[in-house]
Amino acid sequence: MSTVSDIRAQFPQLSEKVYGKPLVYLDNAATSLRPQSVVRLWEDLSLRHNANVFRAVHKFSSEATRFYEDARRAVAAHIGAASQREIVFTSGDTASLNLVARCFGAAFVGPGDEILVAQSEHHSNLVPWQMLCREKGAHLKCLPVDEKGRLCVEMLPQMLSPRTKLLCVADISNVLGLRNPVAEIVRIAHEKGCPVLLDGAQGIVHEKVDVQALDCDFYTFSGHKVYASPGTGVLYGKRKWLEAMPPLMGGGEMIENVAWESSTYAAPPHKFEAGTPNISGVPTLVPALEMARTLNSGEIAAQAGAVRDFVLDALLAFPGLRLFGLPERKSDKVPIFSFTVEGVHHEDLALLLDKMGIAVRSGQMCAEPLMTRFGVTGMLRASFAPYNTMAEAEYFVTSLKKAIDMLK
Ligand SMILES: Cc1ncc(COP(=O)(O)O)c(C=O)c1O
Repeated sequence: MSTVSDIRAQFPQLSEKVYGKPLVYLDNAATSLRPQSVVRLWEDLSLRHNANVFRAVHKFSSEATRFYEDARRAVAAHIGAASQREIVFTSGDTASLNLVARCFGAAFVGPGDEILVAQSEHHSNLVPWQMLCREKGAHLKCLPVDEKGRLCVEMLPQMLSPRTKLLCVADISNVLGLRNPVAEIVRIAHEKGCPVLLDGAQGIVHEKVDVQALDCDFYTFSGHKVYASPGTGVLYGKRKWLEAMPPLMGGGEMIENVAWESSTYAAPPHKFEAGTPNISGVPTLVPALEMARTLNSGEIAAQAGAVRDFVLDALLAFPGLRLFGLPERKSDKVPIFSFTVEGVHHEDLALLLDKMGIAVRSGQMCAEPLMTRFGVTGMLRASFAPYNTMAEAEYFVTSLKKAIDMLK
């Protein structure tokens, strides 16, 4: 079984220094660090096994196709999909969400219909729905969050109407870090005949995802947040939806037959993968998801839980600090901590922490409506990964105190 120090040795960036201080990387919700297994595979595929997928009969092309399709099987197994044909590769979570908005929208959304989106969503799970609603004359409805950052799930039955064509919500918000009750949400929506899209950008990092158990209709995520190569993304869609949706782009490899006048399309998932995909990046999902499973089990998961509890208690005890996303039980939260400090600007705090070697995020976190909901212009976010240690958490808390004292 791997220990935290075994794991840390596989992420070379963890040994980097910033202004002469050891890097403490707490911006994992923006992008994770990359393990050697991922970079080595990418390098090997690029330098020694480069070829395009599907197109040729030569050995390297067949090998590239095998790597690519093995990744599809690995993703399907990792998230519990019924078939690898339900896994579409994209360039990232934003691309997956836009694909659903365009293609599901084209097939199923018309004037007067409704799309219901949670108030806490990342812009990537909001703006595509605004665009669709504008184009189709449909209405965008907002499922609110309460003062503690919890989704007002009790309002869901009355908000869903026969015109609600899709409910879009993240399993974990990138700001609040709360595990949303997605199984319950899907059950309520389905009772009302409404399909559900789960934005899994953060959930895929911290949760064991089982799309069949959740019974969600779509699940999307980016590779780069879960240790894989940037420029990779996944769209899971139930087969019945993928079959009924038109393709997004036309081009190579998404067709069945092409005549001058018209074409017929390949079956999903290839119908949605026009053109040359990320041939060196997509296969890195295999070691990346293997890493995610290792990090979310055994001793490493136990230490990540202890780190979360320690930081949560410490931040709740800070005078003048307002933490967003307050859990009922500690286990309802993942180690994503967004907060403001009275009398201190989040940007100044982030700059000072950087000087101390600590990388955090500051600003609106691509969730401006949520900032408006809480009446703030921005927040500071420290987001931990399971490779962050208790010593780093303690250093973060001490440094935060020091930085606040300097700025007050
Ligand atoms: C919840 C959530 N959704 C969507 C996105 C967009 O992901 P990407 O920029 O990788 O496409 C992010 C990125 O921070 C996110 O956290």
